[in-house]
Amino acid sequence: MGRELNNTMTKDTLPLRRIDHVRFFVGNARQSAYFYRNAFGFDVVAYAGLETRQKYEAGYVLRQGHITFVLVSALSWKHPDSQRLIQHGDGVQDIALDVEDVTYSYKEAVRRGAEGVSPPQALEDEFGVYECATIRTYGDTTHTFINRDRYKGIFAPGYKPMDPARYSPSTFHNVGLKAIDHIVGNVEEGKMNEWVKFYQDVLGFHQLVHFDDKDISTEYSALMSKVVENGTGRIKFPINEPAKAKRRSQIDEFLQFYGGPGVQHIAMATDNIIETVGAMYKNDVSFLRVPRSYYDLLPARVGPIKEDIDVLADLGILVDRDDEGYMLQIFTKPVADRPTLFFEVIQRRGSRSFGKGNFKALFEAIEREQAVRGTL
Ligand code: FE2
Repeated sequence: MGRELNNTMTKDTLPLRRIDHVRFFVGNARQSAYFYRNAFGFDVVAYAGLETRQKYEAGYVLRQGHITFVLVSALSWKHPDSQRLIQHGDGVQDIALDVEDVTYSYKEAVRRGAEGVSPPQALEDEFGVYECATIRTYGDTTHTFINRDRYKGIFAPGYKPMDPARYSPSTFHNVGLKAIDHIVGNVEEGKMNEWVKFYQDVLGFHQLVHFDDKDISTEYSALMSKVVENGTGRIKFPINEPAKAKRRSQIDEFLQFYGGPGVQHIAMATDNIIETVGAMYKNDVSFLRVPRSYYDLLPARVGPIKEDIDVLADLGILVDRDDEGYMLQIFTKPVADRPTLFFEVIQRRGSRSFGKGNFKALFEAIEREQAVRGTL
């Protein structure tokens, strides 16, 4: 039970620079772009579609701080990914990783056991050469290795800067999201260790923390989780699996409605969670709430913090402390109709952990939502 640091740190044999972008495959990218712009404060910077002579899909590139989201929709039923919408609904299709050498990364990953999806290719336009290659991870999720060192365009070949007439600058409000902190995958019962091993063996990640069902359980439901991170520590992927309990785990609910394993949540870091979350509430983003009693117990649990606890309570922001410091976090409700993908906003004040002290309050809040949906 509890925190378990893995001492067998693997050498960074497949150097990944950072998460380049997250590609979402959605039913209506135009309307999703409006949502992520006006609710989550992303700027829509680039577009691909019929107007840019891209005939099979429309794509919108959204940016806030160092975070890049790409929202893509098929323009015809013949698009190879159009079936995934029926199975999964809107969701994360690809987590793209910036690498120094795409061909080496792909060949090495496949040699170590990854399933290749598309081999290395160099896409060219008047702005240079954009290199990419894709491997499969859990479910229908993929990782694309990207290198844009020789590419000077706005995003990738096919994409053009957003038509400035499309959105009025006066309606745009950044909410202060700065970077992706971690991206969580849900996999089937009994598969967590397999995927942890995949990230260790194929991408050279090491295991950071482990939570078992005694850490992450309420009276009714349970899950298990392990966190892997890459050699630089900049990329963190927790992986969850459901655990047996009296009622249905939230992970089972996800697997049912997503139609298999997939990305459960993306945590985005801010330097001022009170301002960021306040702005998101103004934009009608819905967050999970915990009972007020959580805040009565907070001072005794986490000790002194810089933030005013009444303000945190009003916004529903959670706090947890470990031996390195503390962190503040909050979770949105699912962003589509299916109870699948949601987002976390996180501010770290020294702590590098994942809010273990909040699991119980949080999962009870999720169970209340599950009960309303009739899926507990
Ligand atoms: Fe998280």
